[in-house]
Amino acid sequence: MSTLRVSADAPDESVIGRAADVIRRGGLVAFPTETVYGLGADALDERAVARIFEAKGRPSYNPLITHVPDLSAARRLSRTWPALADRLGEAFWPGPLTLIVPKADTIPDIVTAGLDSVGVRVPAHPVALALLRAADTPLAAPSANRFTEVSPTTAAHVERGLGDRVEMILDGGPTAVGIESTVLDLTGPRPVLLRPGSISLDALEAVAGPIERSGAVEGEAPRRSPGMVDKHYAPRGELVVFPRARREEMRTAVDAAKGRGLVVGGLLLDTAPPGLDQVMMMPSDAAGYARELYAALHRLDGEGCDLIVVDDVPADPEWAGIRDRLQRAARD
Ligand code: TXA
Ligand code: MG
Repeated sequence: MSTLRVSADAPDESVIGRAADVIRRGGLVAFPTETVYGLGADALDERAVARIFEAKGRPSYNPLITHVPDLSAARRLSRTWPALADRLGEAFWPGPLTLIVPKADTIPDIVTAGLDSVGVRVPAHPVALALLRAADTPLAAPSANRFTEVSPTTAAHVERGLGDRVEMILDGGPTAVGIESTVLDLTGPRPVLLRPGSISLDALEAVAGPIERSGAVEGEAPRRSPGMVDKHYAPRGELVVFPRARREEMRTAVDAAKGRGLVVGGLLLDTAPPGLDQVMMMPSDAAGYARELYAALHRLDGEGCDLIVVDDVPADPEWAGIRDRLQRAARD
C-alpha cells in the first residue's frame, strides 16, 4: 500500500494518473471527497467491486454509491433518469447529495446489492473529480472504513482501518463536511430521505417539493436503504447521549464507570464533568461539529475509551445529520 499526498486544490496530474492506473487494473484506491474518504473501485468491474466488500468486511446486501464527474455521466447510470434528478443535480452537484434512481443494465448487480436502483453522486472534491476523469469510469465507493466502524475523515484514519487492504491512499488532507452525503430516493412517487446529511431538508424541498422521511412513521415497512438498519458509524466503546438539561445523569454515569475502572471519554458542548479521561470539546455550530465528529470519535477510540458520554445536540434541522449519526453510534 502507498499513501500519496496530493494537493486538495490543484491535484498533481502524475499522482492522479497513478491512482487511475490502479483503478483500471481492478485495484482499490481510497480518495478524499468533501464528506468522508471513499474506498473506490471501477463500478463496471464486478471483480474489483467484490474486493471493496472483502476489504470492508461489508455484507453483500448493502449497496454502494456510484460516483461520477458530472450530471451527464450520472444520467448514463440510469435507464430512466427522473426529471427531478436533473433539477436536484443542477442545484446540488457537485456536492454531498446521493440520488437513488432506476439503474442501467451496465451496472453490475454486486454494486447495487441486486436492487433495481442505483445510488449516484458527483462529489465536490477536486481530487475525487480528477480521479474520476482520469480513470474514465464510474467509481463505486463506500466510506473507506471497516464495516460498522467510524467513517474516515483523514488519510490516517483510512490507513489505520484498511491500510493493508488497499493498493493506494490519496491523502488530500481532512475532509470539509465530515459526515456522509444526504441520500434521497427518487424511485417512488415522492422523494424519500433515506439518510440525512449536511444539506438541510428545507433546501432540498425548495427544489424537490415535499420529501418523505424514511422511518418517520412508527412501525413502518422495511426501510429501502439496507445500510440504514445496521449499527453504523460506531466507536468501539459504548456511546451514550445525555440531554443537556439533565447533566447530573452524565455525572452519575461517569462516576459509576470510573468506579468500575473504565476509561471514559466525553464529546461535549458544555464544560466537562469531573473524572473524564479524555475530553473532546465540540464546536457549537452544526457545520463545525460535523467536520470534527468522526475525528473526535477516532481519537476517543484510539485512547481506548470504554464509555463515551455525549452532550445531546440541538433539535434544529441543521443538526439532523449529526443527530442521526450519534443515534446510530449509540445503538446497541
Ligand atoms: O458521502 C458519502 O456518501 C460517502 C462518500 C465516499 O461518497 N459514501 C458513503 O457510502 O457514505 P456508504 O456505502 O458508506 O453509504 C451508502 C449508503 C448506504 O446507507 C446504502 O444503503 C445507501 O447509501 N444506498 C446505496 N445505494 C442504494 C440504493 N440503490 N437504494 C437504497 N439505498 C442505497
Ligand atoms: Mg459507510
